[in-house]
Amino acid sequence: MKFFVRTFGCQMNENDSEHIAGILARSGAEKAARPEDADVIIVNTCAVREKSEEKLYSYLGRLSGLKKKRDVLIGVAGCVAQIHRDGLFRKKPFVDFVVGPDNYLEIPAIVGKAAAGRCVETGRVGDWREFGSRETLRESPTTAFVTVMEGCDNFCAYCVVPFSRGREKFRPLPSVLGEVRDLAGAGYKEIQFLGQNVNAYRDTETGRAFADLLDEACAVPGLEWVRFVTSHPKMFGEDIIQAMARNPKVCRALHLPLQSGSSAVLERMNRGYTRDEYLALAGRLQAALPGLLLSTDIIVGFPGESEEDFEATCDVLRRVRFAGLFSFRYSPRPLTAAARMADDVPLETKRRRLVALQALQKTIQLETNASFVGRELRVLCLEKSPKGGGRLAGRTEGNLVVNFPAPEDLIGRFTTVRITGCGPYSLHGELA
Ligand code: 5AD
Ligand code: SF4
Repeated sequence: MKFFVRTFGCQMNENDSEHIAGILARSGAEKAARPEDADVIIVNTCAVREKSEEKLYSYLGRLSGLKKKRDVLIGVAGCVAQIHRDGLFRKKPFVDFVVGPDNYLEIPAIVGKAAAGRCVETGRVGDWREFGSRETLRESPTTAFVTVMEGCDNFCAYCVVPFSRGREKFRPLPSVLGEVRDLAGAGYKEIQFLGQNVNAYRDTETGRAFADLLDEACAVPGLEWVRFVTSHPKMFGEDIIQAMARNPKVCRALHLPLQSGSSAVLERMNRGYTRDEYLALAGRLQAALPGLLLSTDIIVGFPGESEEDFEATCDVLRRVRFAGLFSFRYSPRPLTAAARMADDVPLETKRRRLVALQALQKTIQLETNASFVGRELRVLCLEKSPKGGGRLAGRTEGNLVVNFPAPEDLIGRFTTVRITGCGPYSLHGELA
């Protein structure tokens, strides 16, 4: 049996798809290079925004064409699966099985059952379910995701995650470290700890916290870079800042979602911090970690967002000078608190604010990136550059993308690149 997994959404989903692939491979199935070659196609879905769900439905539409031509099982996994469950069969009748994020270990059995008739597994599991790193079929031989916790207890008003991923569950520290050691042993250079809210991490058995996990991971020989996503500003304790500061292996790059720069909007979003608290945290981080590059997420057009609120967000962008930004138009999501608020910012206004925000950020990023021109940076070579021309693409410690001409055998290794130019979204250069 051959399988193909298509992933939508965040890094957590990418990592989950690697698990799904690992679990299927262990059961004897083989990974197909294209959906056309597969007997089972699993679509791992994202429900975080309306647009992500729409993308999924149009992809499923294309798969239905494939199904008319040949016998193939189609499964939907991930957050959309968990939210809609058997409702998905009404929307897309050609779907054969639906499997939620707590049920991936059952996928081989589900595939077996689905051949005989439709199948849904979206049961909730309260505790962390153990899986070994050997069951993960990773995409990259250089950089690896390591999930440390799943789910979220924060209930930000706009966010579907506490409903799709459920409550917080923490992976035991010895299991996390075991995987980190295996990865380092296998030659991985970089790991990224993953969780919806990694700062909340604790080992349930011993109470050891995220700062301890950073210390332990940095002590693993062979590993050079440690990153983590996603952090929550309300839980970013001094202990984590100190752990980052004393461990040079922890990259000086941090994704710290702001969502809005207006305290009034932040309160309605139930984010648990004010604009000033965020600014103070960003300042403390930048002082403790020289050279730190911050990136963030912003939602424009949240219910009740006024022009002044939006201006306050732009103002935070100008003050913090983020090196990267993911920005989104607000869309109401099922089951969330904000879905009960009037979605009262007109679409045109949301569009205009998003364009303005991105234009502002583009200027800031161009300035930040230009400050690296002429410098030599350590770069982890990751892949052939999508821009072609015998170039490789890599990342700096600050998580900036660099394109440079280099032989392919440098992939997976560190090198030094002299930066010769930049655009708003990447740097380019030559081997130093
Ligand atoms: N509408 C728009 N953006 C959203 N996000 C989460 N929920 C919504 C929503 N309902 C954004 C947030 C989050 C990122 C992953 O997606 O900025 O940090
Ligand atoms: Fe969603 Fe907020 Fe939890 Fe992040 S912290 S997953 S935005 S509820």
